[in-house]
Amino acid sequence: MNKHNGLKPGNTRTVDEITSGRRLRRMRKAAWSRRLVQENHLRVDDLIWPIFLIEGEGQQEPVEAMPGVSRYSVDLAVRQVELAAKLGIPAIATFPNVDVASRDGQGTAILDPNNLINRATRAFKDAVPEVGIITDVALDPFTDHGHDGILRDGVVINDETVKQIAHAAVLQASAGADVIAPSDMMDGRVGAIRDALDSNGFQDVAILSYATKFASAFYGPYREAIGTSGLLKGDKNTYYISAANTDEAMREVEQDLEEGADMVMIKPGLPYLDIIRRIKDAFAMPTFAYQVSGEYSMIKAAEANGWLDGKQAMMESLLAFKRAGCDGVFTYFAPEVAKHLRS
Ligand code: PBG
Repeated sequence: MNKHNGLKPGNTRTVDEITSGRRLRRMRKAAWSRRLVQENHLRVDDLIWPIFLIEGEGQQEPVEAMPGVSRYSVDLAVRQVELAAKLGIPAIATFPNVDVASRDGQGTAILDPNNLINRATRAFKDAVPEVGIITDVALDPFTDHGHDGILRDGVVINDETVKQIAHAAVLQASAGADVIAPSDMMDGRVGAIRDALDSNGFQDVAILSYATKFASAFYGPYREAIGTSGLLKGDKNTYYISAANTDEAMREVEQDLEEGADMVMIKPGLPYLDIIRRIKDAFAMPTFAYQVSGEYSMIKAAEANGWLDGKQAMMESLLAFKRAGCDGVFTYFAPEVAKHLRS
């Protein structure tokens, strides 16, 4: 009897008898054996780099809420895409910070063949044709209310928005986009985009659907980056999925695949690893996660405070996506990761 708590000491069997000799630590004891048994790997081939654009020339503006991330005018953004090519990053995704004067209630400027996104795509394809260009097709950078759709009497109008983004997708494809990525969560948009692309001769332009996009607080820094944070009225709960729902996310993916999506995305990433795993297991389709702005900024902020090792947290968080079943990840860390993996 232990005189302090009255319990018997539990030393009747040896540890060897308990484990029957199965000691999992054997393979962890040296770097070489840890390398041999490593199940998942993060590679440069897994990275998609989101890049923010601004008007002008020779402009680089740091995004305050995202240390290490800037918005670039098209000429300087070309240098970033060249860097992506040099680092072996397969694809980039563009997000425009449109001049406030060009924004309106309908997001009309998305239909300008020479808007910031389309000019950037042409410049990138001209300079670095081998890097994949993924263009986001959603109204939020172009509306003066920050919503992803046409807003009337406080309601985001589904079908009119779908018509407009299908048209915008064709313009993006004409500018040279390789992949169209609708991020707006309107119903029926993948099918409408597929039809519009096909009937305009863009059968080979792919669709990466933001199929499961959750109403999330983690988009905060992004809204500063594209300049919608001051504009957004209300929230996006009437079109993004509730963070509480899993089955509904499955139905979104099923629907988008039926409508012709080539790849699907889960967004945000780290808080939704369960959704990634379920989707990959059920559909076995190319599956991507977006490690969104808030996920990036949290790591950067903790690192800046000396609370954790930022590099390690970056690599661990990205490896988690691979473990959950992702084929690749949208991440603002892309160039940093690529450099790290090469060193
Ligand atoms: C909206 C859109 C969002 C992001 C990209 N496109 C979400 C939003 O503002 O509601 C978020 C990206 C990020 O947080 O990194 N079409």
